[in-house]
Amino acid sequence: MILQHLTLTNFKNYQSLDADFSPRINCITGDNGEGKTNILDAIYYLSFCKSFFTGLDSQNIRHGEQFFIVQGQYDSDGQSEEIYCGFEPGKRKRFKRNKKEYDRFADHIGLIPLVMVSPTDINLIIGGSDDRRKFMDGIISQFDREYLLKYQEYTRILAQRNHLLKETPQTWQIDDSILQIYDSQLSEAGQYIYQKRKEFVSGIEPIFQKYFEAISRGKEKVSLEYQTTLDEKPLEQQLTENRAIDMATRYTNFGIHKDDLEFGMSGMPIKRLGSQGQQKTYLVAMKLAQFEYIDGLCGRKPVLLLDDIFDKLDQTRVEQIVNIVSQSNFGQIFITDTSTQRIDSILQKFGSDHYHYNLKDNRLTLM
Ligand SMILES: Nc1ncnc2c1ncn2[C@@H]1O[C@H](COP(=O)(O)OP(=O)(O)OP(=O)(O)O)[C@@H](O)[C@H]1O
Ligand SMILES: [Mg+2]
Repeated sequence: MILQHLTLTNFKNYQSLDADFSPRINCITGDNGEGKTNILDAIYYLSFCKSFFTGLDSQNIRHGEQFFIVQGQYDSDGQSEEIYCGFEPGKRKRFKRNKKEYDRFADHIGLIPLVMVSPTDINLIIGGSDDRRKFMDGIISQFDREYLLKYQEYTRILAQRNHLLKETPQTWQIDDSILQIYDSQLSEAGQYIYQKRKEFVSGIEPIFQKYFEAISRGKEKVSLEYQTTLDEKPLEQQLTENRAIDMATRYTNFGIHKDDLEFGMSGMPIKRLGSQGQQKTYLVAMKLAQFEYIDGLCGRKPVLLLDDIFDKLDQTRVEQIVNIVSQSNFGQIFITDTSTQRIDSILQKFGSDHYHYNLKDNRLTLM
């Protein structure tokens, strides 16, 4: 899927914006606060029916206006696809494909695969395990409806089990037979999720290593491992054996809600040991791996959004990244940067088909 044309109406800082894009590399340069990231967020909307940054659609309406519209004209192997997203507070968000409105947003997600690399993604490296589980779940569930259903089921049963543990007065005996039912249901959904996460990590790990090696030119050794207690024993057995702990802590201590991804460098967590540039390299390599993994799964190249990715990276790594994404296994790419000169000099080096826009006063000008 190639975004050929984007139209914004009252979206964030744009009263109206019309832009044509290259099927390959699109660079948007401009000073801080000009609205580069906002353009990427609009493109994100067209893939995921929501903002990358906020769950509150109303925050994306231009201050003082009543609604926003984001429209994209895509090319899908020679066929045109028109995607429309409109929002007005008090009414439901409307999402259309070729003028036909979707009943459920879930039916749209996956049609235009997209990978965003944003400065806020650094939380994947330095944040809590929750961020890393979300990363896995987000990718797997985009293309595996069964996973999403099992995940929702697991979350529901876990909440019920935790409620029972928490709300039963200390002096009361918790009914073992009820716990037994929860354990068996949790286990059924949990084992499925575990299996899929395991497949995901073993599928993405070698791709990640390849990109990390290419960007860092082999300067650091890194690792990526799935951490879960389900490797040791089936979940149902763990829940039964540790029931006393759960009763004492009034919480479910075992299960896939405790899983994590271990990001290592030279045998230590990169969270602690890595410099900012090394952490950023790790992140970008993960995202490029995500790109290739999704491409392999659905046979469509995701749109790749690289927001401010050059910050903290040295010249060699920056050039390696642009070199990688300008090769033919990548598709349409959007890169933002504050430095017009930096972008110009990189594009001259890797001169693949590109547009370079400068953004000033809400207007895009081709350089
Ligand atoms: N709902 C809104 N209405 C009007 N303006 C908005 C709205 N939401 C955000 N903005 C404006 O958009 C601007 C920020 O845009 P954006 O984050 O895209 O900038 P940027 O070019 O990516 O900057 P940087 O280089 O600092 O990352 C801010 O000036 C902000 O006030
Ligand atoms: Mg920005």
